[in-house]
Order: sequence, then C-alpha cells, then structure tokens
Amino acid sequence: GVGVTILAIESSCDETSASVCRDGKILSNYIANQTVHEQYGGVVPELASRAHMQNIVPVVDLALKQANVSLPEIDAIAYTQAPGLIGSLLVGSQFARSLAIAMDKPLIAVHHMQAHVLANLIGDPQPAFPFLCLTVSGGHTQIVFVKSPSDMEVIGETLDDAAGEAFDKTAKIMGLSYPGGPLIDKYAQSGNPKAFAFAEPQIEGLDFSFSGLKTSVLYFLQKQQKENPDFVTKHLADICASIQHRIVTILLNKLKKAALQTGCTRLCMAGGVSANSGLRKGLKELGAQHGWEVFIPDFEYCTDNAAMIAITGYYKYLAGTFTPLAESASARATW
Ligand code: KG4
Ligand code: ZN
Repeated sequence: GVGVTILAIESSCDETSASVCRDGKILSNYIANQTVHEQYGGVVPELASRAHMQNIVPVVDLALKQANVSLPEIDAIAYTQAPGLIGSLLVGSQFARSLAIAMDKPLIAVHHMQAHVLANLIGDPQPAFPFLCLTVSGGHTQIVFVKSPSDMEVIGETLDDAAGEAFDKTAKIMGLSYPGGPLIDKYAQSGNPKAFAFAEPQIEGLDFSFSGLKTSVLYFLQKQQKENPDFVTKHLADICASIQHRIVTILLNKLKKAALQTGCTRLCMAGGVSANSGLRKGLKELGAQHGWEVFIPDFEYCTDNAAMIAITGYYKYLAGTFTPLAESASARATW
C-alpha cells in the first residue's frame, strides 16, 4: 500500500488552511489569508467565521489537488479542536466531522499549541527527543518540555500578554497596521537595538510578562512626542529595533534558564513569532555560544498552517488516538 495519508484542516483564527501528509511527509499546505481584518486593527471573530465558511471547500479542494491525492485515498481527517475563536473552530471541526461521516473515515482532534510544537517534526533535520520548544504566537507564549509527540508539558508561560501581542500592541501604539509583528521586524532591520532601553521584567521561574513593556513603550513615546511630535516617524527603525531586542532577550533569557534548569539543551521554536528574524538569529547565537542544538521550522510552518495539524494527526493515527464523532469544538482545551 501507499502508507498513511492524512487530510488536515486548520481554522482556529484568521487563516483557513488544509494540508495532506503521507507517512509524515507534507504533500501540500494550502493557506488562505483573510485580509478583511486589516482595517479593524485586529481579528473580528464574526468576520473570521464567515470567511472560513467561504474558504473551506476551495481550500480543501486545492490542498488535495496540489498533493495529487483523491478523497478516497485519505485514511483519516485531522482538525484543530482548540484553542482559538469558537466560531472559527466550529467551521473547521464541523467540516471535518461531516467529511468523516460521509466517507466513513476516522476523525482526529488536534490541539493547536501541540501542533505548533510538532511543526518541528516536519522535514529535515528533526530534533531527537526530548527537546524544549519556545512556542510564541499571537495568543500564547510557552516553554514546552517535549518527551514524545504525545507527551509534552508546559513548564513556563506568560502571565499576561503573549509575545505576539507585545509586538502587535506596541506596533499599534506607533500607528502601524495589524498585525504589527512583521512590520516591527522589517523596520528593525535598519535600526539600532540599543538606541532606547526598555526594562526587562523581573519574573520568577520560567514564566513571562509582557504587559509592562507595552506600558513603558506607551509612556516613553508620549513623553518624547510632547517635545517632538515627529518622534516616531523620525526614529521608527531605532524604536522597532529596541522593542524587538527587548522582546527577544526576554524570550531567550527564559529559554536559556529552562535549558540550564532541565539539562535539556536541544532547543526548538514554534508559532508565528518564530518567524521574527531577530529571534531566529538570537536563538542560533544562543546555541552557538553554548554548543546547544537548535531547530527552527521553515517559515511557512511557523505561522498558522494545516501542515502542523497533519503531522500531529499522523502521530496520533500511529498511536491509535481517534476522536468520537460526537465530540465538539471548544474555545479552550485541556493540554
Ligand atoms: O501563530 P500565529 O500565526 O497565530 C496565532 O496567534 O496562533 O501567530 C501570529 C502572531 C502575530 O502576533 C504576529 O504579529 C506575529 O505572530 N508575527 C511576528 C512575525 N510574523 C508573525 N512577530 C514578529 N516578527 C515577525 N516576523
Ligand atoms: Zn497559532
């Protein structure tokens, strides 16, 4: 036979995505971005669910076509169960369930944050187990101790804002459009990261805090703008580089602490913020400094995508972990 073929669907936030994977190899990963939210400065849940409803059939169709796989060849259907926007999740989960019933195939519910972590198992080279994963997205910031595809533990997380929110909210203060993370990254390229010093919060253990940074950026800019109304425009690159530098050092100092504390020095990264060039560079430098192994998924597997749902579905298929057809989506899931 041809092996195990998984069709996966991701619809937790504002990306509608479908992917086909065969024996752990990604054959397609189609992602439809929703641009409707840009004008509102953030994702509008009701608009997101409507766009998912419009996108889901063509997106699944394109993913199958790109993979050159027909529906009857699919062995199981994986979908994002949680966490995410409930309306968005429902579109993907109901579609997956309907398909599973119609085709009489098993259904596999996947945890979105576990899938971000397992994106590290796509392609080569892959980390051996155990490894530590810094998962940084618009909604989450976690350090995960990963013992196997099905056995992972969150050992540190944010107490307030996520790293992606820290990027997006400070970008909004500067008048940049949503999502601001990629824009800060872009402007930071030509700026001085030491131009402005924003304090590093003193949080115990392996947890993070980002709400203080947002506040100090706000007060700093308000003060500067009183004397110089053009301050942001004039110093955009330096401000972006300084903010990015602080977010990156907060993240990497905790990851380093986690490595020393657990003795696990195989380091991975996941989630939308791991697309950040300063963070990617910083992690590689951290690894080089200490002789630690470092892994970063390809760019397209860092932000929300169905390939990571497919790879997680594949490992769940191998473990025989299937989902009853009656199980529903929920905005929050236990880890
Ligand atoms: O994982 P993701 O695509 O969606 C979820 O939140 O689940 O992450 C989106 C987040 C946004 O906050 C976005 O600003 C941030 O990832 N992001 C970046 C970059 N690319 C995406 N932040 C900084 N630099 C980037 N290059
Ligand atoms: Zn995500």
